[in-house]
Amino acid sequence: MRVLAVASAAVFAGVLLAGTAIVQVNAGPDLVKFPADYEKGVKYGVVSNPNNKLYREFYTTKDAVDVAKAGKPIPSGTWIVMKSFKSKADPTGAHLKGPDGHFVKDELAAYAVMEKRAGWGKEYPDNLRNGEWEYQAYTTARAVNDKANLKACFECHKPKDGDDYLFTLGMMKSHK
Ligand code: HEC
Repeated sequence: MRVLAVASAAVFAGVLLAGTAIVQVNAGPDLVKFPADYEKGVKYGVVSNPNNKLYREFYTTKDAVDVAKAGKPIPSGTWIVMKSFKSKADPTGAHLKGPDGHFVKDELAAYAVMEKRAGWGKEYPDNLRNGEWEYQAYTTARAVNDKANLKACFECHKPKDGDDYLFTLGMMKSHK
């Protein structure tokens, strides 16, 4: 189990049950579950990121898309998967673009997941907390990437607080 340094005091809660079993209550990024059926959700957008040259696909629940379109806050229980692929480059190293203007998808690079549930996030200080969202990074094999800097997730998404901490809320809203 891994925790953010800032949250370490609050996230381990040992509960003594009937004097015998110790149940560990997980919090923080450990709460996030990789949504195994994410492809059955809605693929609501694609980004070709010019900085890291990744081709990224975004998936979430139908409920979240419907609610976003209605201009309401993303509901508790929502997960969002960002699936990143490397993109093809020509021999000079320039990244190619396809007829759709996007990078040309190459091998899978990583998954990143956000999940939101009522009551989550309480242990974070205000300058870090992203509402009720938690973040987790995964390898291509869908295993937790324990080298990821999860604090950076919170820091970089924080300024998007007006969009429920999402960079792609507009895509969700305009998804047809
Ligand atoms: C340096 C800034 C930065 C950091 C750090 C960062 N993100 Fe993001 N994230 C973005 C941007 C920008 C997008 C929109 C996609 C794009 O432009 O590549 C995004 C999109 C996402 C999305 C899709 C939902 C949304 O907000 O649009 C998820 C899920 C996500 N990030 C998870 C994570 C996780 C998990 C981490 C930490 C392991 C993380 N991010 C760290 C900038 C960041």
